[in-house]
Amino acid sequence: MYNKIKKDKKKLQKYAHKIIPGLSGLLGKRPEMYLPGGNWPTYYKKAKGVTIWGIDKKKYLDFTMVGIGTSVLGYSDKDINFAAINAIKSGSMTTLNPLEDVELAEELLKIHSWAGSVKFARTGGESMSIAVRLSRAFTKKDKVLFCGYHGWQDWYLSANLKSNKKLNEHLLPGLEPLGVPKGLIGSVIPFRFNDWKDLEKVVKKNAKDCAAIVLEPCREKFPDKEYLQELRRIADKNNCVLIFDEITSGWRINTGGAHQKFKINPDLVVYGKTIANGIPMGAIVGRKKIMSLALKSFISSSFWTEKVGPACALTFIKKHRKLKVGKKLNTIGLKIKKVWRDAAKKNNLEIEINGINPLATFKLRTKNWPATITYFNQEMLKENILASDRCYANLKHNDKNIKMYRDACEKIFQNIYELDKKNILEKKLEGPIKQMGFRRLT
Ligand SMILES: Cc1ncc(COP(=O)(O)O)c(C=O)c1O
Repeated sequence: MYNKIKKDKKKLQKYAHKIIPGLSGLLGKRPEMYLPGGNWPTYYKKAKGVTIWGIDKKKYLDFTMVGIGTSVLGYSDKDINFAAINAIKSGSMTTLNPLEDVELAEELLKIHSWAGSVKFARTGGESMSIAVRLSRAFTKKDKVLFCGYHGWQDWYLSANLKSNKKLNEHLLPGLEPLGVPKGLIGSVIPFRFNDWKDLEKVVKKNAKDCAAIVLEPCREKFPDKEYLQELRRIADKNNCVLIFDEITSGWRINTGGAHQKFKINPDLVVYGKTIANGIPMGAIVGRKKIMSLALKSFISSSFWTEKVGPACALTFIKKHRKLKVGKKLNTIGLKIKKVWRDAAKKNNLEIEINGINPLATFKLRTKNWPATITYFNQEMLKENILASDRCYANLKHNDKNIKMYRDACEKIFQNIYELDKKNILEKKLEGPIKQMGFRRLT
């Protein structure tokens, strides 16, 4: 079957849905999250910089999250490739451990002088599970206070056991905790980011029973410095481990974690995603007294010991520092925000722009936002641009391709204004409205 349909993107999507639940291992790569109806390219042949070659022989510019935020240097970076190929050629998985682990641990500890040791994993979610396990082992307490998204694992999804709306304000609405043991009800407590009321009502009230306070130090916006200071104080007072999840925010504004801007140290900091520019890698960096619990609690996995991940992470960190990638991403993010702001202004559209500069998002105040963003994605695709309501700045977003993105945005925002005014935007959709969160596919 596959060989017969592999060049037909619509048939391939349909078939993949039949034999792979949800089509993709990641909710965010389901075509329905961008453009349902079969037109989304869905599969690729090769990628370089911010260009992706689809199976339909078309070449697309990537102005979405560029590999779901994993590849800030651009796809198929030559130095990362060199490190990966060398690691493979010299034996990527053996009975012994890769030397690169030690050099990488030292490199991460130089970035975090308050920390004493490092543990490696490969994905973000599993790295966060390790951090939570260590915190529970260290404090001998079970409950966890959190805000934001931290992965698919039971500890996190259990927030939705009582009501499946608890996670709606934490990046992904509608997450189903089906299969998560009911015994975990009440084991995690969500709070709102940078919300002083919740800090009093939820965090302060529960901290003494909690093993950890978990949050991304920024995403939609930077928090007040005093807010992070207060969380630090609450954690110290109540013997809670303060965990900063830098899986998405890390390496965006500096060579390290976004929290370093505030000079407030957590007890554990977690990296994933772009730490090896698209090669699987995760790291938990933390205070020795907490990390040492990894000797007592069983936390162990075969592929956390292969060589490609740490070799590429080392190359990434050195290149990131040398090219001052954090500064550059900030400038590029500002340019992308300006594209949206100018295109909206020119076309009398009201726009809301959020996110720190390298993780920018927009929303137009039209009559039907889900229909509008579906239309935007649909029309951008006709310009050979992969687009969505967010654009993560990438080193390979340059003035030339940003201009192409700007020209396309201006044209499509103009159409949106006119169609919205005439109430006919939905009629122009060539398929259903895109999914806005998690929804079970039948
Ligand atoms: C802040 C944050 N934490 C954890 C995760 C989970 O990482 P992964 O998808 O690699 O398991 C993500 C993924 O989007 C994330 O953004």
